[in-house]
Amino acid sequence: MKIVCIGAGYVGGPTMSVIASKCPNVIIEVVDLSQERINAWNSDFLPIYEPGLSDILKESIGRNLFFSTQIEEAIEQADIVFVSVNTPTKTFGKGAGKAANLEYIEKCARTIRQYAKKDLIVVEKSTLPVRTAEAMEKILHSGESPYHFEVLSNPEFLAEGTAIQDLLVPDRVLIGGRQTESGIVAIEKLADLYAHWVPRERILRTNTWSSELSKLASNAFLAQRVSSINAISQLCEETEADVGEVSKAIGMDERIGSKFLNSSIGFGGSCFKKDILNLVYLCRQYGLNEAADYWDQVVIMNDHQKDRFIDKMIKTMFNTISGKKVAILGFAFKADTGDTRESPADYVVKQLLEEHCEVTISDPEALENAKKDLGERKNLSFEKDPYLACEGADATVIMTEWQAYKSLNFEKIYTSMRKPAFLFDGRNILDHLSIHQLGFNVFPIGKPSYVHELKKV
Ligand code: UDX
Ligand code: UDX
Repeated sequence: MKIVCIGAGYVGGPTMSVIASKCPNVIIEVVDLSQERINAWNSDFLPIYEPGLSDILKESIGRNLFFSTQIEEAIEQADIVFVSVNTPTKTFGKGAGKAANLEYIEKCARTIRQYAKKDLIVVEKSTLPVRTAEAMEKILHSGESPYHFEVLSNPEFLAEGTAIQDLLVPDRVLIGGRQTESGIVAIEKLADLYAHWVPRERILRTNTWSSELSKLASNAFLAQRVSSINAISQLCEETEADVGEVSKAIGMDERIGSKFLNSSIGFGGSCFKKDILNLVYLCRQYGLNEAADYWDQVVIMNDHQKDRFIDKMIKTMFNTISGKKVAILGFAFKADTGDTRESPADYVVKQLLEEHCEVTISDPEALENAKKDLGERKNLSFEKDPYLACEGADATVIMTEWQAYKSLNFEKIYTSMRKPAFLFDGRNILDHLSIHQLGFNVFPIGKPSYVHELKKV
């Protein structure tokens, strides 16, 4: 069997590496428009940082796993084509800022139709609006092609930073398809592939539309938990309740569960916001305005959490940060990834620069992406070493929950900073009281802040 995956990104690369490792008899070719990306996959410097990825990749690359830009040739030989290209939020025309841009998906369908040399299974890996498979089927079956294309929806639930583990031991694998004879055969063929390492009872089969919708709904539910605890964090700050304690108390209720209840500066990443906007747009298209408003609020709350954080920084630093120096520790949207898409740090940095603040960004894995995202700007610098980034700063700001930041020598950092020294913990990862005792004024999220009385002059 030969599998082709179009799109060698954060999803396509790791997913195919795991399938190749678990199914050594299957030939897998990952193709991408970007020669630069493909070159990186074929080198020792992978295009994405993901723990465990390089080890699993080494098992199969050159054996049954190949990366290339030869899309046409690859499709000619394929039995199954996974489509894993990006589906960004539209930036133009109808639905701008809300709907998904399906341009690349449609282009893939046309390419598959043009180069296929036999009947094919086409698998949607990308997260898509409900009923996209229908549009794909129509494109694939239009024109002269004598072949039959069976479109399946098989959304990926991996989270960045834990992608390899999530792929090796998934909670579930979801396969949606047409409930027709050929549809059911295709579903079973894909299920057999996953059954090489996933227990059969964890492979769910549904109709196509349930599968497409489940992916949007899963991300919306996860994001909603973050916004819910962040809404509670706001109340905590007003009432001296501690969001960490509240979160623990809520999470011990088995019906609620303890995961995804960490209050933070807000969620980021390429999926949550995009998928909720997509869900909202779909609801509105069907006239379901109350349902749309409900989900919209998750994004509104997330945006508000970032604004509140910036307002607090300005207010506590004597209502002006113009000319002050701020060290941003962490630019990735979460720990253990170099991905900066929709990172809350990006928004915060841009706002601080608007206020004429001097900003230095540090991150162990995301500095190159940060440079690409922000480019050269006045008052902005990048520094890999967190200690150097904090030198002479008025404030240190934790933006990503990197493990390494928990064990920094804050005494050393305090000594090198301008006084009074401020610390804003956007991830609640530090021991706030002991850091305060070193001399810092400490501002966590949803917890009491620790402020030193200023000496009278
Ligand atoms: C993407 C989507 O964002 C996500 O919704 C979906 O679930 C999976 O695919 P990701 O892998 O993180 O996620 O995207 P990205 O890292 O941008 O990778 C997409 C790749 O597709 C890029 O390397 C891009 O060059 C490639 N691509 C895009 C093509 O090869 N052909 C195209 O027509 C468009
Ligand atoms: C998410 C989904 O988890 C995954 O199933 C889907 O396939 C893609 O989207 P990802 O965006 O990679 O994965 O990371 P995730 O761990 O979900 O975190 C998303 C954002 O929420 C991050 O910015 C993270 O820091 C934030 N978050 C998460 C919180 O602020 N608090 C939490 O308790 C959990």
